[in-house]
Amino acid sequence: MSGSLAARLARRIGRDGPIPLAEFMALNNAAYYAGGDPFGRGGDFITAPEISQMFGEIVGLWCVDAWERLGRPADIRLVELGPGRGVLMADALRAARLQPAFRPEVHLVETSPALRALQRAQGFDAAWHDRVETVPEGPAIWIANEFFDALPVRQFLRVNGCWHERLVDYDGSHFRFAAGPALRHAGAGEDGDISEVCPAATGMAAALAARPGYGLAVDYGYVEPPRRPTVQAVSGHEPVDPLSRPGEADMSAHVDFAALVRAGREGGAAVWGPVPQGAWLKRLGIEARAARLGGQEEALARLTGGDAMGRLFRVLAFGPAGAPAPAGFVDGEGG
Ligand SMILES: C[S@@+](CC[C@H](N)C(=O)[O-])C[C@H]1O[C@@H](n2cnc3c(N)ncnc32)[C@H](O)[C@@H]1O
Repeated sequence: MSGSLAARLARRIGRDGPIPLAEFMALNNAAYYAGGDPFGRGGDFITAPEISQMFGEIVGLWCVDAWERLGRPADIRLVELGPGRGVLMADALRAARLQPAFRPEVHLVETSPALRALQRAQGFDAAWHDRVETVPEGPAIWIANEFFDALPVRQFLRVNGCWHERLVDYDGSHFRFAAGPALRHAGAGEDGDISEVCPAATGMAAALAARPGYGLAVDYGYVEPPRRPTVQAVSGHEPVDPLSRPGEADMSAHVDFAALVRAGREGGAAVWGPVPQGAWLKRLGIEARAARLGGQEEALARLTGGDAMGRLFRVLAFGPAGAPAPAGFVDGEGG
């Protein structure tokens, strides 16, 4: 216990005072993902590529199509952000073999040593990075499924007409929220509102937008800010109090798609979507693929159903300014 993240945080907060929620979330997730394999039915949550190979196959064919749109450069990087167990990339590369001329250099952005080991065990050649900035320059196609939601968010609480950053304090037995000093007078809204921002996500989106190529982000999130906190924590498929078990539960927040769209455009990219995951997968032929594979009824319903991931999750694409909409998107469609 004395070496655990909880004990280290308790000592640090006792000595130096409360820390911003974003820092708590970053430390929580670094420790959580370093701890091993949280995926699958026996783990804490299940992601789309873990539900069915169809998801990664469709993403892989989307990448081949994006490469064709770039003029088939021989020198092309395929970059995945937060690859989990590496299942999405393995399925994508297998499907992409349908076009043998597409031979990308694979780069995985992953901070967890335990997950890097699982990704390596998938057997494809790749280079690993802690940050996207170290991926070599040049044309790239990047993919990110449930990555942006894992990045740390800052929260601001409105009290007496002013915004205060939400901090995490320790009362001797529990971690709890505390309000930082007043930052600035609030504009629209009401006392009690909580606003969230994710500078890590918008910074990453701007950096990705500045690279030549295409990108695909799939995540759950919103276009209209909800005025309430969306940070949540999951352990064993059950929601838990986000502050209750530092390093032992997956902390995530709904993705602000409007902020990613703005960051992408400011970074110089064209941006399409977000469109619901279910509609996007259907446009790219998931029903035909399911019929061909057989036995995919439950997976198809989970990935595309309006009451499942099909509407909760959304897909956003980046591409070269001035290019027409990539596969599965329609110009002018979003939200
Ligand atoms: C929810 S998992 C998604 C896994 C995978 N994309 C999937 O669909 O199964 C989040 C992934 O992002 C990684 N990750 C989280 N924060 C990161 C960061 N700041 N930099 C790089 N990787 C990070 C985690 O280690 C994990 O691989």
